[in-house]
Amino acid sequence: MKKTTYLSGVSLLALSLSGCSDSNDFKPITGMDGMDIYANACASCHGENGQGKFGLLLKLADSEASPEEISAKIINGGQLMPAFPNISQAQAEQIAAYLKAQ
Ligand code: HEC
Repeated sequence: MKKTTYLSGVSLLALSLSGCSDSNDFKPITGMDGMDIYANACASCHGENGQGKFGLLLKLADSEASPEEISAKIINGGQLMPAFPNISQAQAEQIAAYLKAQ
């Protein structure tokens, strides 16, 4: 009994850490706009409305990145940021437009 609990704890930890590497399997539901996708896929790391997390860390709201750079980042990922292969170019552009409006 105790052993099972321990094991599932370890796999949960592995799962949450893998969120911070190569690619994320988040898949937008049809009809989601840039804001909805942001809230579901990005806010966990970048904070609500792009305001950052843990102080101002990972703040996107007044990032100097252009909309093109933002959408490329979503699709390709970064050093630490996962790529989002299930987000289309058009959706990535909607997220970028949403962020630029913050
Ligand atoms: C698992 C955490 C995580 C998630 C989820 C995540 N990011 Fe990131 N993001 C990061 C990290 C860490 C960096 C900075 C280092 C790097 O580039 O990898 C970053 C950097 C960025 C940058 C570059 C910022 C700049 O000023 O140049 C943009 C733009 C960005 N993320 C947008 C997004 C968007 C949009 C989403 C949702 C589709 C998203 N991120 C989801 C962790 C995350």
